[in-house]
Amino acid sequence: MTASAQRKGEYKTLLVTTKNKITKIMLNRPDKKNAINLVMYREIMQALEEAAEDDSTLIVITGCGDYFSSGNDLSNFGEDLLEILKNNGNWLRNFISHFIDFPKPLIAVVNGPAVGISVTLLGLFDIVYASDKAVFQTPFTQLGQCPEGCSSYTFPKIMGAAKANEMLLFNKKITAEEACARGLVTEVFSDSAFQGEVWTRLNAYANLPKNSLAVSKQLMRSVEKEILHAVASRECDQLLERCFSDECINAIMSFFQKKSKL
Ligand code: COA
Repeated sequence: MTASAQRKGEYKTLLVTTKNKITKIMLNRPDKKNAINLVMYREIMQALEEAAEDDSTLIVITGCGDYFSSGNDLSNFGEDLLEILKNNGNWLRNFISHFIDFPKPLIAVVNGPAVGISVTLLGLFDIVYASDKAVFQTPFTQLGQCPEGCSSYTFPKIMGAAKANEMLLFNKKITAEEACARGLVTEVFSDSAFQGEVWTRLNAYANLPKNSLAVSKQLMRSVEKEILHAVASRECDQLLERCFSDECINAIMSFFQKKSKL
């Protein structure tokens, strides 16, 4: 008998379910390409906290619709975010810490294009499966911002400085195949077979002993935990300054002006 998915919690921006010992956190703003607004940031932290404590063996993050995520919702740069940042610069650091410290295997099922923080965070996942429709871009300098999600450390380490610089300094968009060749993605699947093949594999992995998996993941992460927290802290301090810079404010205004002209 196949178990049915058990819906968890009341979320406005996520669909969180558990089935076959896998908790799936689905970003659920498809009409906004799963852009991460302030509510979604809070809800992802809550869902990760709950998943860390539940009976599941694996945790999967994926997107609803055609995008994995278009990254930070640029309308966050309104008064709310600036006020939160001014009063509590630790807010983004706390979000990133949830990924650094997550105690169980964390898997990204990248169903479509990924932008910004939804790409940088992949360096903190344990496995990244991607559809061949996915593309990856971190347009930080285009937006007057700077790398976050520990990517200033994880990207050069994963792909070498020469390739990381193309993405983090010069906004180069790469395909799923390129991301796999660079080591950011574990494996790429054709989009038509993606969901079937990935979930068959994950369901098999979820039958491995839960505690052994968690301890093994934690051992590997423990080697770098301190470094990752220090990197996140430095990046967040810089990003805070960047958010109030003319370069950033002008780039965000230009995104919304272009939209209003359409
Ligand atoms: N922040 C705010 N709104 C976003 C968004 C984001 N990151 N990504 C998508 N949206 C919104 C669009 O403004 C649009 O809203 P509307 O329906 O009210 O007009 C809706 O989501 C659909 O996106 P649209 O731009 O129409 O789709 P598209 O296929 O033409 O382009 C993107 C998709 C992701 C390429 C484009 O929306 C984009 O460039 N977004 C910004 C990505 C970004 O810079 N992220 C931050 C990185 S640091």
